Amino acid sequence: MDENVIDPCSAKRLPKELPTDPMRWAKAWLDEAVSRMVSRNPNTMTAITVNEQGQPSGRQVLCKDFVEDPGYLVFYTNYKSDKSRHLEHNDRIALLFHWDSFGRQVRLEGRAVRSPAEESDAYFASRDWGSQLGAWGSDQSAPLESRATLIAQVGRRAVKLGVNAATSLKSIARSDRPMISRPPHWGGYRVWPHRIELWIEGEDRIHDRARWERPVTPGDGDEFVVGNWTGTRLQP
Ligand SMILES: Cc1cc2nc3c(=O)[nH]c(=O)nc-3n(C[C@H](O)[C@H](O)[C@H](O)COP(=O)(O)O)c2cc1C
Repeated sequence: MDENVIDPCSAKRLPKELPTDPMRWAKAWLDEAVSRMVSRNPNTMTAITVNEQGQPSGRQVLCKDFVEDPGYLVFYTNYKSDKSRHLEHNDRIALLFHWDSFGRQVRLEGRAVRSPAEESDAYFASRDWGSQLGAWGSDQSAPLESRATLIAQVGRRAVKLGVNAATSLKSIARSDRPMISRPPHWGGYRVWPHRIELWIEGEDRIHDRARWERPVTPGDGDEFVVGNWTGTRLQP
């Protein structure tokens, strides 16, 4: 890297002249939080979607990929969950990271589109076997009578996938584990932000804050065409 390029992780403040690559800053902060394991799930982000009545609703998801250029983030979920139903109706989404021990916040706003099937297949194949079964076992966000009903449902679906019913799932030897393919109702979303805000905690609540915006327009297939970021410093 050019030695004149500022290292976002050692910067105590946003540079006087705002950087033109805020996604690089956000990714560097995320990577540092992950490499230093600042919490059990340092890649956690709050994802806010809007339902059919216009009601926003937030929940935590894990950021599984952060592609700096052209600039999108990926999370995985059940395509029949409430959040996915919201996104199918309204693809607008907000994402929010907060790393308290670093005094850093990143806010992103944009549009979500399902990841290409091959990408979801590849990620699903990389997951541990128990999580693969879990994706088949739960109808995320659907009402449930009891925990016992859920356990029975997970067991029944495991048997359908070729798992030996008599054994507890954890005790099944690796060699006896059938290959589990990705359920069609499970996969990734790519979030293409058109707005990003970086926030660094300051003394006496005089925080450092700037927002960048860029044009994002649908391109071929799943891709979006993005323009350059323009930054504006904001009062805290
Ligand atoms: C730390 C943490 C990470 C989570 N990661 C995910 C995730 O990556 N994908 C997911 O679908 N749910 C994840 N969840 C569960 C969601 O917060 C939420 O309960 C679930 O997705 C159902 O949300 P919905 O009914 O609004 O769709 C996570 C929860 C926590 C606390």
